[in-house]
Amino acid sequence: MPRKKITVVGAGHVGANTALWLAQKELGDVVIIDIVEGVSQGKGLDLTEAAPIEGFDSRITGTNDYKDTANSDVVIITAGIPRKPGMSRSDLINTNLGIVKTVVESIVKYSPNAHLIVVTNPLDVMVYAAWKYSGLKPNKVMGMSGALDGARMRAFIALELGVSVEDVHTIVIGGHADEMVPLKRYSTVSGIPISQLMPKDKLDAIMKRTRGAGGEIVGLLKTGSAFYAPSAASAEMCEAIIKDKKRVIPCAAYCTGQYGVKDMFIGVPAKLGAGGVEEIFEVSLETEEKAAFDNSVQAVKKLIDDLKI
Ligand code: APR
Repeated sequence: MPRKKITVVGAGHVGANTALWLAQKELGDVVIIDIVEGVSQGKGLDLTEAAPIEGFDSRITGTNDYKDTANSDVVIITAGIPRKPGMSRSDLINTNLGIVKTVVESIVKYSPNAHLIVVTNPLDVMVYAAWKYSGLKPNKVMGMSGALDGARMRAFIALELGVSVEDVHTIVIGGHADEMVPLKRYSTVSGIPISQLMPKDKLDAIMKRTRGAGGEIVGLLKTGSAFYAPSAASAEMCEAIIKDKKRVIPCAAYCTGQYGVKDMFIGVPAKLGAGGVEEIFEVSLETEEKAAFDNSVQAVKKLIDDLKI
């Protein structure tokens, strides 16, 4: 079977680490493309030289020419500017919209059948823009949000309870912004509802920390935003598609009425496989959860409406 081809757009913090996770998982050959000359080539070569140590045979190359990305199976878009302290994700909108437009138009020219995983922020707006600019079917376009937000919540729960991260499951829905909605009722440790394992104040504190987790890291780093967990989450989504795993991973998916949302991408639990977003699972929400979700949807919708794309 020929190897799969995965392109990572942007050779910065998120992009380079995404390439590393992809190669370590041997999901296919990886092409890294960036606008800056030499950076993608240098990081690609550096990763190639790590391969004998780690024992992966994925080929990793860097380029500035979209021709080299031709016939990719999956394209992960990380190009764009990250946040600095004091900024919200939506402050990045104008700069990153222009970048996503050029990137997507060049990508689909050479890879008309690719699945697109968008990582650039503000996520829910950028994935919508990527879909519009690509002309692809909506199931082939998705945004990396809940995979990351849910992982952050899992990490906090595991730390609090002293249990394995592997046994903690969470669902975070809504926009990839401070209005996101961690669903505590659907969070478990090996099936045990989390509310039975810790007091309400502890759980509330974890939900609050999850909503602000991206900002917490920006505040610490000061020069940019998180990249290890975002890149790992991107590779996880890519793996689900490449291996047709049918994983259920919350991410920004195109809704056609689910959760009362239409013609928009928003974070919902989605089944990811060879068909991209193959299904959206609708879980029942209590009044308060639905209100929080609607509030998050409105915040994203306002940003999209303002852009008029
Ligand atoms: N085409 C290709 N690459 C581009 C383009 C473009 N038009 N414009 C910028 N880039 C590249 C930059 O040259 C840089 O190498 O995107 C890369 C971004 O890397 P970083 O500045 O390190 O940013 P990073 O932390 O990786 O975040 C990228 O992901 O999580 C989001 O909010 C984050 O929007 C940000 C994006």
